Amino acid sequence: MTSVLVLGSANADLVVEVARRPGGGETVLGGDTVVMPGGKGANTAVAAARVGASVDLLGAVGSDQYGELLRSSLASSGVRTAFVRTSARPTGIAYITVTPDGENSIVVAPGANGDVAPSDVDGVSPDGVSVLVCSLEVPVPTVEHGVAWAARHGVRPVLNLSPVAPLSPSTLALLDPLIVNEHEAAQLAPTFEALLDLGPRSAVVTLGARGAAVVTRDGVVEVPAPAVTPVDTTGAGDAFAGALAARLAAGDQLVEAARYAARVAATSVTRAGAQPSYPAAADVLP
Ligand code: ADP
Ligand code: NA
Repeated sequence: MTSVLVLGSANADLVVEVARRPGGGETVLGGDTVVMPGGKGANTAVAAARVGASVDLLGAVGSDQYGELLRSSLASSGVRTAFVRTSARPTGIAYITVTPDGENSIVVAPGANGDVAPSDVDGVSPDGVSVLVCSLEVPVPTVEHGVAWAARHGVRPVLNLSPVAPLSPSTLALLDPLIVNEHEAAQLAPTFEALLDLGPRSAVVTLGARGAAVVTRDGVVEVPAPAVTPVDTTGAGDAFAGALAARLAAGDQLVEAARYAARVAATSVTRAGAQPSYPAAADVLP
């Protein structure tokens, strides 16, 4: 089976429910802290593995309780962690507030994720890897090195441009697809079609409850998300990226893969948390 390599972050999500977010200088009381495994890289890897892909995560955690939590969560979802290095820096932490409407806002302390280096990419064998999926909570030079590594070895480079960071034209030109959400897309280009002017071979714009738009030289194809009552949208974009990569690795065309990814991500917003909310193939909403 061809496999998915995920290059990205692993964070502990410290989640607290609040009635509303505090403004500057203000304090609000929230619920009890819930600790959950997260980080865009780990989330993406778990989402891909849950729907049946063979997955490795390339990243770093600290030698602390949160690093252990992440390793065991990854392993229990079937993600291989041989390329998750133990760093001298603390495990990355995301401080997440969730409001009753299911929206979240997040501060990330990168910690060990800031240590993921180009040399870590060079330590991976490309044999059997068909898709590399990257996100940007690890250093940009490492991601750019990873994308070039993928292209050189016949691995399809997919990049979730989240959080938005400047990428070199040579990196953008290799992406197939570039994945962005609606807000990121608006920062990058005036129209979905114009995303291709940045250089990628294809782009996918996730549209929240409206699903996603697949952008290629042939035009824009929208795929729907099933209608759901959102409970917690944390990690929905990562679920989308992971499921998309899994289906591309299985041989799907991009539109077909995006259609499936929108269903997986919609399923994830019906449950609390990021990784714990990702469905197995049998539980993906139709
Ligand atoms: P991000 O979480 O990165 O901002 P989106 O909000 O676009 O990205 O969500 C990613 C995907 O999650 C969407 O393409 C869709 O499949 C699914 N999704 C998100 N919110 C909803 C919702 N309210 N109803 C159904 N699906 C949703
Ligand atoms: Na969720």
